[in-house]
Amino acid sequence: TDTIEPVFAPSNIALCKYWGKREAELNLPVNSSLSISLAHLGSKTAISVAEEDQVWLNGIRLLAEDKFSRKVIAFIDLFRRADEHCVKVETANNIPTAAGLASSASGFAALMLAVDRFYGLDLDLKVLSAFARMGSGSASRSLYEGFVEWQMGVREDGMDSFALPLDSRWADLRIGLVKVSTGEKAVDSRSGMNRTVDTAHLYQSWPLQAAADLQRLHQAITDQNFTLLGETAEQNALSMHATMIASWPPLLYWQPDSVAAMQSIWQARAEGIELYFTMDAGPNIKLLFTADAEAAVKQRFPDLEIVAPFG
Ligand code: DP6
Repeated sequence: TDTIEPVFAPSNIALCKYWGKREAELNLPVNSSLSISLAHLGSKTAISVAEEDQVWLNGIRLLAEDKFSRKVIAFIDLFRRADEHCVKVETANNIPTAAGLASSASGFAALMLAVDRFYGLDLDLKVLSAFARMGSGSASRSLYEGFVEWQMGVREDGMDSFALPLDSRWADLRIGLVKVSTGEKAVDSRSGMNRTVDTAHLYQSWPLQAAADLQRLHQAITDQNFTLLGETAEQNALSMHATMIASWPPLLYWQPDSVAAMQSIWQARAEGIELYFTMDAGPNIKLLFTADAEAAVKQRFPDLEIVAPFG
């Protein structure tokens, strides 16, 4: 076919973070990570035959030299034979781009699904996940709904470094997106994690923290123990940020409003509301709570976008 129907991949938020690469070309991680996909929030991508290669993002054609555009075409080139036609890649995100809401994750997962259809590859989900990882590490987790674990793997070619879904559901789990800033971020995740690995002595403790947190999250999910889930995710995110702050030059993604949100969350907990948070490489806060706390949470965060990952 000359064109494919747009394919969708959800964004995801890690409860145990991917932070640090053991191999930078293939995006092979230092640690395994565990995330939850954001249901209807994500990216839609279509590929069609064109006169010249072009990448469109949210209805706007990007310049050929644009960083994202080049990454997309380089990704296509992993699968395209030299004699094959030029392509038009159209991506639409319904989440703010580059604001720490992981649009690169859903973007490369949707692109991988689109490539699979367009070139008729019919690859296994595990293989799609491993290839999506090469576009952006966290994209390996966006091939699935619900809870997802990206197993770090040990092989040098990375073919055992892919994500798999966990078969547990959690119907009343909620994620709240607190938008502190929707602007482009100063330092992207790739440079941020490389800087941390290269300059922060504190980073040495990260793999141990991540391994312990992964165990605890599995326990929390199996037992549907929300307190354990929330505490583990929040401590994991803050530990990751601690390694960034200990880098040189220091890397602090927090803005005053991020800290204000944290204090409001801790105050809510002191008042008996089961509310926790996680944060990625940006100033935005992602709240974790259950359906019964929704009214109390909305009162504190009126502009909240709430996602029910399991419908
Ligand atoms: C903090 O997947 O964006 O969101 O592999 O370099 O593209 P690259 O990095 P990316 O990093 C995501 C980092 C994080 C944590 C996470 O999502 O696990």
